[in-house]
Parts: sequence; structure tokens; C-alpha cells
Amino acid sequence: MKITVIGAGNVGATVAQLLANQELASEIIIVDVLEGIPEGKALDMYESMPIMGSDSKIFGTNSYEMTADSDIVIQTAGLARKPGMTRDDLLVKNAEIVSSCISNAFKYSPNAYYIIVSNPLDVMTFLAAKITNLPRHKVIGMAGILDTARYRSFISMELNVAMQDIQGMILGGHGDTMVPLPRFTTVAGIPLTDLLPKEKIDAICTRAANGGGEIVKYLKTGSAYYAPAAAAVQMVESIVRDQKRILPCSVMLEGEYGVSDVVVGVPVKLGKGGMEEILELKLNDEEMASFNNSVGHVRETIDEAKKLLNM
Ligand code: LAC
Repeated sequence: MKITVIGAGNVGATVAQLLANQELASEIIIVDVLEGIPEGKALDMYESMPIMGSDSKIFGTNSYEMTADSDIVIQTAGLARKPGMTRDDLLVKNAEIVSSCISNAFKYSPNAYYIIVSNPLDVMTFLAAKITNLPRHKVIGMAGILDTARYRSFISMELNVAMQDIQGMILGGHGDTMVPLPRFTTVAGIPLTDLLPKEKIDAICTRAANGGGEIVKYLKTGSAYYAPAAAAVQMVESIVRDQKRILPCSVMLEGEYGVSDVVVGVPVKLGKGGMEEILELKLNDEEMASFNNSVGHVRETIDEAKKLLNM
């Protein structure tokens, strides 16, 4: 396995480190436009490998040539939010950055799977799909795993139970309109709705939907990266190890949930074939209305991005 991480910022560097520590690739390339930063961070990580007991080799570069023939490319480069900004406020700048990074990477790795992490997530994944013209099972956005990880953490804090016993699902766009689904959330198989009153569940859903903003408010100069990086690496692991995990990811819908030509978060199966299957949950009217509202919002932002890039 050769994996390229585009962007040597907090998310990119943390992704590379987790990949290396878990030895998910024999070769990891970190590419970034900043001089010295990708090389320095990569060498520092390389030097931690004897301690970690991993033989992953990590290299940093400013040039995409070194990324050639990657099996997986992870797009993390882009501006992060500052306090008060929504993810959509990043659209203009990040559309430009992501288009350029993905075009460059695709020249050298036309057969790779592309995992998109830059925001606004669903729109950037849509752009990557259109730019590469790859089939949809090869271009997958990271959002739902992060959003559900936050949601699961908050449930664990509330109930004081082990994280690993909490299963949850969040659909829709990675933004304020995301759709947490308490009806599809269980603690060791017990429906969450039997364990907590509605007001508590509503508060947890709201906190999860605003989870990114909560971190930005603390950090002030950037956004979350530990949980986003862990989420991206879980996607890589499921693909590399053909685990066939069912995880919420952002993918191009072609009729599922009654939606087409929009990238949005739904439960998918990830394995050696990339996004191998989309699972269609039986949503009730209220859940479907929230999902459609979220899809509508993502579609509007996609239309804006298309105009910006003359697509
Ligand atoms: C978040 C940003 C990274 O949710 O989208 O933290």
C-alpha cells in the first residue's frame, strides 16, 4: 500500500501519523505547498517508527511526482474555520485549493481511491468526483464517522457507559443541517430512546451537530483534527483490511433515498472495493423531511461551487 496525504497541516499530519503507527501502508507521502513543512514533519514521524514498532516509511514533498501510483489519496488541504464561520464560508477558497490538489494527484494516481476531508465536505467530495470523473465507489467523503463519534462520545458521557457499546447513525450533509437518528442509535442493542428522555437526546443531537464549531471556539485559530483524522483513518483501515464496516460516509447518490447527483452522508459498506454498497434506512416522515432539507442545502452549495468553477 502506498498512501498519499495532501496537506501537512494538523489534520494531514495527524492522519499520516495514525496511518504510520497502525502500519496501514508501507509508504506514506505527505505533500504540501509549504516549503520544508511536509519534509520536516514526515522525517520526524519516520524517526518515531523504531519506537512505534512500525515499518511504514514516511516522506514529505512539495511535488506530486513522488505521490505517483498511490493506492489511496487523502485530501486534507484547505482553509480551516475561524470562530463564527460556517463550513460553507470556506467554499470559495477551498474549491480552488481542492480542485488544484485533486487534479495534480489524479495525474499521477489515476487508479487510487480518493478520501476527501476538506470542507465544506460534501461539496468538496462532489468536486473531486467531477474533476476525476471516477466512479462513485472511488471518491468518498469523511464526515459521518466524525459526527457520529462526537454523538457517541456525548452519549457515553451522559450514560457513563463504554464508548464501544454505543452505535449511532447520522445522515445528511456535514453541517448545521445534519440528521442524527436516535431511532437508529443503540447502547449494547438497547434503543437509546429507552434509555434517555427526549430532551436529553435532543440536547445531545444539537451538540453533535455543532460539535465542529464547539472545538473552533476553543482553538480560535483552527478547527478540530484529532477526531477528524481518526475518522479518515478508520475509512482507510476498512478499505485496506477489507473489513466491510458499515460507516456513514459522503458519497454520490444515484437514486438512493430518492436523490441523484448530490454527495451527502449515508451508511455505506467500505471494503477492498472502496464504497461497496449504500444502505437505505427506512426513515419515517420526520427523518425523511430532515434528510431532504439537508440534501437541499448541500445541493444549493454545490450549485454555487459549480458557478465558481464554471462547471
Ligand atoms: C469539524 C470540521 C473539521 O467538524 O468540519 O470539526
